[in-house]
Amino acid sequence: MRTRMMRWLLRLTVGLVAIIALTAIAVYGISELRLRKTYQVEVAELFIPTDAASIERGRILAGPAAHCAGCHMPNLGGQVMVDDLPFLVAAPNLTSGAGGVGATYSNGDLLRAIRHGVRPDGSTIQLMPAQNYNQLSDQDVAAIIAYIRSMPPVDNQPGETELRPLGRLLMVLGQFGLPAESIDHTVTSSAAVPFGRTVAYGQYLAVIGNCASCHGANYSGAPLIIPGEPPSANLTPGGGLSDWSEADFVTAMRAGVRPDGSAIDPAMPWELTGQLSDDELGALYLYFKTLPALEYNSPAE
Ligand code: HEC
Ligand code: HEC
Repeated sequence: MRTRMMRWLLRLTVGLVAIIALTAIAVYGISELRLRKTYQVEVAELFIPTDAASIERGRILAGPAAHCAGCHMPNLGGQVMVDDLPFLVAAPNLTSGAGGVGATYSNGDLLRAIRHGVRPDGSTIQLMPAQNYNQLSDQDVAAIIAYIRSMPPVDNQPGETELRPLGRLLMVLGQFGLPAESIDHTVTSSAAVPFGRTVAYGQYLAVIGNCASCHGANYSGAPLIIPGEPPSANLTPGGGLSDWSEADFVTAMRAGVRPDGSAIDPAMPWELTGQLSDDELGALYLYFKTLPALEYNSPAE
């Protein structure tokens, strides 16, 4: 009796270990195939301006609007952003200093990285929202490159981004993807959305501001994958914003305080968004008002 039980237990253990090992091999294999895929992307020749107004436009885009500086640092010298169970995220140095890509990348190489999430050798860039930057207009991406070129060189080598076993599992389970996988690489030019306090410009700012990366594709809010961060809020009229005035929204983004006096967690980059102009914040507010009212964390269609 005892030996039969032991044998049964042993078989069960061997079976479980085999299942775990096979799952681990499958997760590694599938993620490795996706990570190693290369993309040949031809980019159009883009005029990069050098005038002060364009560089200032680039500064607004790289900071408050598109958050490059939030990850790559205000001096664009790069940093290790996250070193946690799922991944090590190192935002590279974009300047022309030692360890920076600015010294060797052509303007076309920068354009390909920003709008396509692809390096000059065809390899893919992880965990940077290039699928959103793909929507940047030609003028705006040129202004961002002009701004990168205007920055003083910084000597810094933040290291290599690395997807760890948990990160690979989350990727295989569809929690996040590689930006280059969801981009139409044949589109090489984007017209500008006219600047103004309009729904259309608000939508453009929401896309390039990566609001959906945290608030979900339909902006109804979602748990974040970085451990310890609060879930993002529902920005549709079905959420807390429904009875905020435009002034409430502007105050929330500028001071990080909701109308009820509670503080907004810094996991929400309100300090960057709050630097946008009244017209830009007004455009975002108008855009979120036009969305269908959804419940928190509604599934994307
Ligand atoms: C959420 C953080 C984040 C944001 C926002 C972000 N980046 Fe990145 N970026 C990264 C990470 C991380 C990498 C490196 C990923 C890797 O090694 O696979 C990267 C890579 C790059 C590269 C390629 C460098 C190389 O080594 O080939 C360029 C160029 C770049 N980013 C520019 C920008 C610009 C311009 C913006 C704003 C329009 C921006 N990034 C916004 C995180 C970010
Ligand atoms: C890096 C992730 C991230 C990004 C990008 C992001 N948010 Fe958030 N946001 C959050 C989190 C997390 C919260 C909830 C904070 C809390 O619970 O205090 C939040 C809260 C908010 C709130 C407060 C809503 C409420 O009901 O309390 C507003 C408004 C908001 N975000 C707007 C935006 C806009 C507009 C953008 C794009 C320009 C954006 N967010 C981009 C993570 C993000």
